[in-house]
Amino acid sequence: WPAFAGDISAILELKRKRNAVILAHNYQTPEIFHCVADIVGDSLALARRAMETEAEVIVLAGVHFMAETAKLLNPEKTVLIPDLEAGCSLAESITAEDVRLLRQRYPGVPIVTYVNTSAAVKAESDICCTSGNARQVVESLGAERVIMLPDEYLARNIAAETKVEIIAWKGHCEVHERFTAEDIRALREAHPGVTVLAHPECPPEVVAEADFSGSTAAMSDYVSREQPRRVVLMTECSMSDNVAVAHPGIDFIRPCNLCPHMKRITLGNIRTALEENRHVVTVDAEVAERARRAVERMLAV
Ligand code: 13P
Ligand code: SF4
Repeated sequence: WPAFAGDISAILELKRKRNAVILAHNYQTPEIFHCVADIVGDSLALARRAMETEAEVIVLAGVHFMAETAKLLNPEKTVLIPDLEAGCSLAESITAEDVRLLRQRYPGVPIVTYVNTSAAVKAESDICCTSGNARQVVESLGAERVIMLPDEYLARNIAAETKVEIIAWKGHCEVHERFTAEDIRALREAHPGVTVLAHPECPPEVVAEADFSGSTAAMSDYVSREQPRRVVLMTECSMSDNVAVAHPGIDFIRPCNLCPHMKRITLGNIRTALEENRHVVTVDAEVAERARRAVERMLAV
């Protein structure tokens, strides 16, 4: 990709100079995902791998809650996010005060919080989860009822898989809420034999019509393992672009929705982040200590 070559070689050099690593989410564009990232994956993998790195600087090519999670797990390291406005509609859907009110309303009911939330919300929670471990986390608590927030659809999709009663919040992912069951039926008609994979942030009726549902890493693993002839990933656009590179023989059908927050990260602002040491991610120390407990409890499950 000649248009990207200058930024790519500058970033590779800056990483060496600054002893930095780039952690990139599966929704980053291919030139970031394939050309400059050191570690790629879903939210769970990025959290785990953030903990293992020996680098002094972590650049998070993803959204703000992912950078905050990396900071919680690496309080002594510099964590940079190339654009501070890279948010998430789920993280925006709930505040720490909302969680405190839920605790008052349901005394004794454990609170499981999706990592797509602010550190302040995590700090009010008992344990975190990602789309890759939500059911295990819910079942690890040994409770008959749990509160699961903030993604209503993830909560309802997990409720369909477990005996644990789940009380949901009303947050939605602005990308996945747009997929419909009708989309899947139309795809099956237009592309006979297509395998449909859906992220669990999709509405339950979409997940019910899909052949498989799982985190972004689980979808990628499914494609590698099952080698479907034709596949559609009901998720963010860059996911198919990134997975398709490793599977030239598979036909990827691509109706997809863009995450405007993920797309704020570019090679240009990753380069500037490393050149100018910005934007440094900080979390209040007292909030960080409580939020870290919820994340570490998840990682121990
Ligand atoms: P994953 O943890 O499955 O990668 O999902 C993160 C996310 O933001 C999905 O929209
Ligand atoms: Fe948030 Fe949805 Fe974007 Fe993921 S795809 S970061 S859940 S808005």
